[in-house]
Amino acid sequence: MTDHALDAEALRERAVASLITARDRTTLLTSCVEAPDLTAQHSPLMSPLVWDLAHIGNQEEQWLLRAVAGQEALRPEIDGLYDAFEHPRAQRPSLPLLPPEEARRYAADVRGRALDVLEATAFDGTRLTEAGFAFGMIAQHEQQHDETMLITHQLRRGPRALTAPDPDPAPVFTGPAEVLVPGGPFTMGTSDEPWALDNERPAHRREVAPFRIDTTPVTNAAYQAFIEDGGYAEPRWWTEEGWAHIRRNSITAPLFWRRDGRQWLRRRFGVTEVVPPDEPVLHVCWYEADAYARWAGRRLPTEAEWEKAARHDPAGDRSMRYPWGDADPGPEHANLGQRHLRPAPAGSYPAGESPLGVRQLIGDVWEWTSSDFAPYPGFRAFPYKEYSEVFFGPQYKVLRGGSFAVDPVACRGTFRNWDHPIRRQIFSGFRTARSEAV
Ligand code: AVJ
Ligand code: FE
Repeated sequence: MTDHALDAEALRERAVASLITARDRTTLLTSCVEAPDLTAQHSPLMSPLVWDLAHIGNQEEQWLLRAVAGQEALRPEIDGLYDAFEHPRAQRPSLPLLPPEEARRYAADVRGRALDVLEATAFDGTRLTEAGFAFGMIAQHEQQHDETMLITHQLRRGPRALTAPDPDPAPVFTGPAEVLVPGGPFTMGTSDEPWALDNERPAHRREVAPFRIDTTPVTNAAYQAFIEDGGYAEPRWWTEEGWAHIRRNSITAPLFWRRDGRQWLRRRFGVTEVVPPDEPVLHVCWYEADAYARWAGRRLPTEAEWEKAARHDPAGDRSMRYPWGDADPGPEHANLGQRHLRPAPAGSYPAGESPLGVRQLIGDVWEWTSSDFAPYPGFRAFPYKEYSEVFFGPQYKVLRGGSFAVDPVACRGTFRNWDHPIRRQIFSGFRTARSEAV
């Protein structure tokens, strides 16, 4: 056991709190618009919000009521409707989905029973209940859909429905642009973080050659320099597929950006504003991140490089849970949990920096890495193949670190996200790296 291991009672309290926090967020995201906006499809990339709501309840029912507690299905006829593999997102609005009021009642009914199950379940025994894993998994699942629903809100046309205070203004970051991460092995992944998901396991040693990595995510100002330099018109910065993709789709700037004379504007949750120069760039696809890096004479970090920069403590030669250590994320460490509806300026959160001084690895924007989504040596699908295993392969690139939209329960130094290299409705940005001559 490591010194951050929590006892069963602390984990039980954490499970209750995490489920409640997730539901509060779900409720906000599904009550800030009227019923027609819940059942409409705002983008073919996304489900109607009312699908996410009942899907959240249905997953909770399947794992906590049926798998953990052995209960009978409450509504067996709806399982198929909310199976993400049965119906592609674009078809979900034409399904006979539960209407908003019924979806709310269903999710609330499941939740009431799930809290009873939680109280009655010992946190040992099976792998599903050990350390409260299934409860943590379901809280993370709901928070992942809360991020998905926030993306739907961003894609939705119409006036602003959500508000949140802005992050504190930060003085312009004056530290070094990059840091050297010395070469050598480090421990990647985890075997003892109780709620880490299957693809984060097991812990294993990785050799990483020395490299340099940006101290902060790439900013809008830096990205604008790439645009103004004709970056989108120069095939040499792009991979062949990337070039074909931006040409075919007439992509000339990040999603939601629009040029207005000499300046760039962006639409953010129903409001149009001047693109803030100091903020990490947001809504770029992997191809754009990769092309920018090439233009800058650099490259994207590999997933192992990213994790070494985020977790390795050179002093103790050990991997920590977060860049700042093993303490759970607080508001001083990172911009997480939809506290703000935008990234904080580059260089924010000095208390969250890594031992080598790398900032904002956790929170603000998901960071594209150069790596395909692949299993770690010794990977075992758990508890279901459709969480990770069916997605392994070169069609998905790994993103790390989490955005302002993800809750701490679903974000840590080992957490792995993935998406197609063309996707940019997600809260994605990046930082760059370069190899260090040895
Ligand atoms: C890990 C974010 C890629 O949203 O597709 C939600 C998370 N899995 N329900 C996704 C997930 C099943 C997943 N990502
Ligand atoms: Fe899901």
